[in-house]
Amino acid sequence: MDVCVIGAGYVGLVTSACLAYFGNKVVAVDVDERRLTTLRSGNIPFFEPGLEEFVKHGTSSGTLEFTADLASAVKRSDIVFIAVGTPSKPDGEPDLSQVMSAAKAIGGALDESRRRIIVNKSTVPVGSGNWVDMLVSQGLQAVQAVPARSAKVHAPSFSVVSNPEFLREGCAIIDSLYPDRILVGAGDDESVERMRQLYKPILDQTFEAPKFAPRPAQFEAVPFVVSDIPSAEMIKYSANAFLAMKISFANEMSGLCEKVGADISQVMRGIGLDSRIGSKFLNAGIGWGGSCFGKDINALIEVSREYNCLTTLLEATISVNKRQRMTVITKLQEELKIIKGRTVGLLGLSFKPDTDDLRDAPSLTIAAQLIKMGAEVKVFDPVSMEVCARMNPQLEVVYCQDVAELASGSDALVLITEWDEFRHADWLSLGESMRRPILIDGRNFLSEQTLRSAGFVYRGIGR
Ligand SMILES: NC(=O)c1ccc[n+]([C@@H]2O[C@H](COP(=O)([O-])OP(=O)(O)OC[C@H]3O[C@@H](n4cnc5c(N)ncnc54)[C@H](O)[C@@H]3O)[C@@H](O)[C@H]2O)c1
Repeated sequence: MDVCVIGAGYVGLVTSACLAYFGNKVVAVDVDERRLTTLRSGNIPFFEPGLEEFVKHGTSSGTLEFTADLASAVKRSDIVFIAVGTPSKPDGEPDLSQVMSAAKAIGGALDESRRRIIVNKSTVPVGSGNWVDMLVSQGLQAVQAVPARSAKVHAPSFSVVSNPEFLREGCAIIDSLYPDRILVGAGDDESVERMRQLYKPILDQTFEAPKFAPRPAQFEAVPFVVSDIPSAEMIKYSANAFLAMKISFANEMSGLCEKVGADISQVMRGIGLDSRIGSKFLNAGIGWGGSCFGKDINALIEVSREYNCLTTLLEATISVNKRQRMTVITKLQEELKIIKGRTVGLLGLSFKPDTDDLRDAPSLTIAAQLIKMGAEVKVFDPVSMEVCARMNPQLEVVYCQDVAELASGSDALVLITEWDEFRHADWLSLGESMRRPILIDGRNFLSEQTLRSAGFVYRGIGR
């Protein structure tokens, strides 16, 4: 099929490369010229394991190209994905301006050469299917300059469907090729069938697995979940809210575990083995971050307010998470007593490993709070320091070249991100180079025994 993907960010780029891999002719559109130049020169504008190879496969086989010309990309496509950003506004409401401008531009580019499916892949509040339909029609009317009433009658044919994305940064390609489900919310059978055709190689797992993303053992087929459009939109938001709520639950329990002398890791293992609960997303630590959880829960709260629905659990999920980021500061106070004038080293900046994404990263909140309290903050992250310096020029931290430089002369280290290389650090010599060998493990990631035998005062979360 001919496919156009608007937005070449994490989701749009992975979707484009994936669909191109199956032999579709894909054109990825972005407004960011710098991003397009990077992509055309064979590079990837952010860190995502395997993506560079995946994109190169598409560009070299002629199935994937990049453009800023949305109109011509739409005109030559059967299926048009909207995969632009939907960040939070300061009040928590989702900023849908990128969706709005993409939808209007699609409308302005439609012609009668074929019936098109416009796919909302961006995470959008319930009701956005209708809204995008309206915006596309408005874009169409603007170019046709015909009265609004008659425009729909003569309009080129299109339908809007919802196809939320569930990939996780850091394993985006694996998640796209071997997802738990593919969800399509639609109002007509023809659109559902065309989406099923588009995703057939994934649904039936008939494609040859790329070397850098091997098929998991016994992975045979993927459920194709069909719903109405509002339900699909609600599924995406509810899924993210539920995952965040699981983490906040583990974190709330971790506080009590510390007081009563229990170990949160043992407690969560014990409850997670119950198949009704499941063991994932029960790790206690400094809480969730990233581009999706916070913004999606806030958006869900906003929609609920519009309908006068209570959001007690959603609000608690956010407030536990906010509080949890500060637990490492409390532990530093307990160990160092005075924070002013101390040097604290942060191990990791990205909100999770295998990504350089710093959106809503706990590291930024923790660093800002320590600086406010009068500490000097040093940081080291294997991939996200450049992004951090570029995006947060006001953040007065010292960027270190490696863990050794971070530890040297520090009063304490705080583990923020579970990068594998931190596990294999030479803790004995790191401890010797510090003013005080104190480590606060914000993710319960390191071996307490290893750290203690290297002479560290080790503090985890909920232990
Ligand atoms: N990042 C994730 O892990 C993830 C996972 C699931 C769902 N989502 C959702 O997918 C959507 C996209 O997220 P992302 O992380 O890829 O965003 P992103 O910010 O990385 O990328 C968005 C891209 O869209 C481009 N863009 C904006 N307006 C445009 C326009 N009018 N025409 C063409 N390009 C335009 C931007 O320049 C940018 O490159 C969001 O709604 C997000 O919530 C993200």
